[in-house]
Amino acid sequence: MAKSLEDNLENRSNYKATWNKLTPSSDDAKMAVAGHANEEELDQSALVTVSILEQFIEINSADVVLEIGCGVGRVGKTLSNKCSKWIGTDISGNMLKYAAQRLKGVTNVELIELSTVGLKEISDNSVDVVYCTVVFMHLYEWDRYKYVQESFRVLKPNGRCFFDNVDITSNHGWKVFMESSSFEIDKRPARISMVSTRDELETYALKAGFQEVKVHRWHDAWVGVTGVKRV
Ligand SMILES: C[S@@+](CC[C@H](N)C(=O)[O-])C[C@H]1O[C@@H](n2cnc3c(N)ncnc32)[C@H](O)[C@@H]1O
Repeated sequence: MAKSLEDNLENRSNYKATWNKLTPSSDDAKMAVAGHANEEELDQSALVTVSILEQFIEINSADVVLEIGCGVGRVGKTLSNKCSKWIGTDISGNMLKYAAQRLKGVTNVELIELSTVGLKEISDNSVDVVYCTVVFMHLYEWDRYKYVQESFRVLKPNGRCFFDNVDITSNHGWKVFMESSSFEIDKRPARISMVSTRDELETYALKAGFQEVKVHRWHDAWVGVTGVKRV
């Protein structure tokens, strides 16, 4: 895709415009989410994400689960079978339009377009689980933290959270870091991937007030943090 001026790093904070522009069609949206548009592969990769969530934060059939940056509902299509309600939120209306098409007929899902960074469309103490996967690499650090803080607010007491990013200390993470660093300065795209460290994610969770904070690493690629809202 030809890179326009609006797709420059200076516009990284304009997430809505960036992600709507990237997704004129459903296939473009799937490409932006997973690097391919193959439905079977999307479903297969969702199983991997769901098993990570089950392993690190548990998903119970009575849970109301909310995803930040749900894209085309890659994870929600599978996870909605395992919880009482799955709420997909995203800054991009286009992504949610395609998510609605993919999830047509699934009755326990709700899709909510976020007006800006944060979860102001979601009530306090209203969900059991919040997770955010494959999103932080596209956000500035302040916005990553904003979502962790907001997750604390919307979680019910004893609610659990999960956030991940590419781990700079892993082999894959270093590759991603070097790929991003290979862009010429004025050609860096707005959504360019920026990695995390375990300390960064752990700090967000602790500063936001989460307890039982744990850091996880997997597949020599990812780092994630989990925590519980004990009040
Ligand atoms: C790589 S996709 C991942 C989608 C989904 N989490 C998954 O794993 O299939 C990144 C998603 O983050 C969304 N996004 C980007 N910036 C965002 C922001 N500031 N707030 C919420 N969602 C955002 C994009 O629209 C896109 O759907």
